Amino acid sequence: MKILGIESSCDETSVAINSDDKLTANLISSQDFHAKYGGVVPELSSRAHLQIIIPLVKDALKKSNLELKDIDLICSTAGPGLIGALLVGLTFAKGLSYSLNKPFVPVDHIEGHIYSGFLMEDKPEFPYLTLVVSGGHTILVLVKSFTEMKVLGTTVDDAAGEAFDKVSKMLGFLYPGGPQIQKNAELGDENKIDFPVAETKGYDFSFSGLKTAVLRYIQKNYPNETKLTQQNLYDIAASFQKAVVKALTQKTKKAIENYNINSLSLVGGVAANKKLREAFTDLSYKYQKKLVIPDLQYCGDNAAMIAFRGKTLYDSGKRFGLDYPPYPSFRFEDFK
Ligand code: KG4
Ligand code: ZN
Repeated sequence: MKILGIESSCDETSVAINSDDKLTANLISSQDFHAKYGGVVPELSSRAHLQIIIPLVKDALKKSNLELKDIDLICSTAGPGLIGALLVGLTFAKGLSYSLNKPFVPVDHIEGHIYSGFLMEDKPEFPYLTLVVSGGHTILVLVKSFTEMKVLGTTVDDAAGEAFDKVSKMLGFLYPGGPQIQKNAELGDENKIDFPVAETKGYDFSFSGLKTAVLRYIQKNYPNETKLTQQNLYDIAASFQKAVVKALTQKTKKAIENYNINSLSLVGGVAANKKLREAFTDLSYKYQKKLVIPDLQYCGDNAAMIAFRGKTLYDSGKRFGLDYPPYPSFRFEDFK
């Protein structure tokens, strides 16, 4: 079976081809130009997706030695994400499906991340616990099979990636903030400032208080911003990163202790974070659980995970008309 996957929910256009269970292409075109605006500009994002999607599909086919007529299944992210951006990939995929007379599967972006560990050679084993940490979501999920999962907790305010991006902006670094904080934190002392970890119920997370704590710390200690030295910035970045990693690890640890799991997984854009990966490696040793963290190319937004999730839905017997979803606004929660 030859599967075409398309992802266009935010600032990455990605096209993947899975040919007889082998990933033959996973092309990702990142819209770096948003950096100068300090965040993703939705309208510019939609236009950039439009410009690149056809060349990217052609390149993916060429790389896989296939032609469009060889494709058996077309999968596309249908939400959540920026509406205009989603519409580009979704309507393109539906158009292809209609013209080729091949089935179409709409995929929830978060579910794409949740199963992204399966893109690795060493795959997660059900039931597994996965922490989805991206720019828009922070969700702890117990994954029982390809058709059953339970959301244990989520953020009550900002997502972890959003907190990285906002604090990065406060410190004057570029967008996206996660990689910038990580880079600057390497030169800082993570024990310099004791930033708070929010107390939340159950397995929920909260990062808005931490973000405010960073702002208050700067306002209180450096009322005249020019006094902030480069070393101060490094120390703030390192101490903030430590608090985020602690918050994420604490709840994951609690879930490992309370649920019977075979594997542990860390997915989404923030899963690229070195300190977080180290913390999860420590957890996996401590509790003797198999750990699956996707390679960097599968942590950020990519179509390989969309093609994979689409295939599992199709294999489990799910079929979708081209009128589904009627508009790309349904949220992760609507699937449950
Ligand atoms: O999953 P993703 O690519 O897009 C969404 O679905 O949101 O995640 C993007 C997020 C951004 O907030 C970015 O700052 C964060 O992932 N990120 C990181 C790192 N690399 C990307 N956060 C912390 N450390 C990193 N190394
Ligand atoms: Zn994502």
